[in-house]
Amino acid sequence: MVLKDRIAIITGGSSGIGRGIALEFAREGARIAIADKQETPLRGKYHETDVTTPTVAEIEKLGARGIFLQTDVADESQVAHTLNRTVEHFGGLDILVNNAGIHIPGGAQALSIADWDKVVGVNLRGVFVATKLAIPHLKRSKFGRMLQIASVHAYGGGAGPAYAPAKAAIVNMVRDTALELGPFGITVNAICPGYIETAIQDYLTPEQIEEALEKTALPRFGLPRDIGRAAVFLASDDAAWITGASLLVDGGFAAGV
Ligand SMILES: NC(=O)c1ccc[n+]([C@@H]2O[C@H](COP(=O)([O-])OP(=O)(O)OC[C@H]3O[C@@H](n4cnc5c(N)ncnc54)[C@H](O)[C@@H]3O)[C@@H](O)[C@H]2O)c1
Repeated sequence: MVLKDRIAIITGGSSGIGRGIALEFAREGARIAIADKQETPLRGKYHETDVTTPTVAEIEKLGARGIFLQTDVADESQVAHTLNRTVEHFGGLDILVNNAGIHIPGGAQALSIADWDKVVGVNLRGVFVATKLAIPHLKRSKFGRMLQIASVHAYGGGAGPAYAPAKAAIVNMVRDTALELGPFGITVNAICPGYIETAIQDYLTPEQIEEALEKTALPRFGLPRDIGRAAVFLASDDAAWITGASLLVDGGFAAGV
């Protein structure tokens, strides 16, 4: 168990990739706070159509400890409360996973300014807020780790004028934060997933899904577990000398771009 007794917060951990990361962390012995707007997992129209059990119940089935803390990452007072509650409950914080994210479809003409603010508010501002507020807690850990979930869309256009720029900003933010936190022994890295089978894909048409699959070198979409295993590696002692990096976990999608 490479994360035995490590204490982690995973934002957006009720569903999809965050849930996949939580379950892999649980298998590796971590104690996990799920910080999500809702406890009930999202059910998609293409993927995760029948997921119903809250993540904490699944964590407990794996013999690990978990707690659900209702949190909107766009609200800094809620994020601060969640960090404090996690530290009180488990006795510290070793790993922050900023995973919560949303997508609102539409190009520059269709997307409203309010929706642009909403996407950037969760996907970029929300990451900064949790990062900033977690630093004092992570500095007290001997194994401080920060993991930001960006996207393969950080490296190209086509995913809208809010989502893709927010993800690109995260790739650079991890470099900046890695420089700042390196002297404290805290590593900061991003994972850039390709197309993963979660409810976030609901906005795509069946034709767009087929096209994304064709562009993925390996002949399947990713599963939340695929991102979970990469996250375990980056959170573990095996990755102690990796910081400021963004790891593509995309089945080869970006290899063809
Ligand atoms: N699935 C993919 O194909 C894919 C690809 C690249 C990157 N990503 C990124 O991975 C992350 C997770 O995506 P997913 O596919 O699991 O999405 P999802 O929609 O399946 O799950 C997202 C979770 O985040 C929660 N959430 C949403 N807004 C929140 C907020 N303001 N505060 C707290 N929690 C909130 C939701 O309740 C949900 O549980 C996102 O950052 C997304 O951009 C996903």
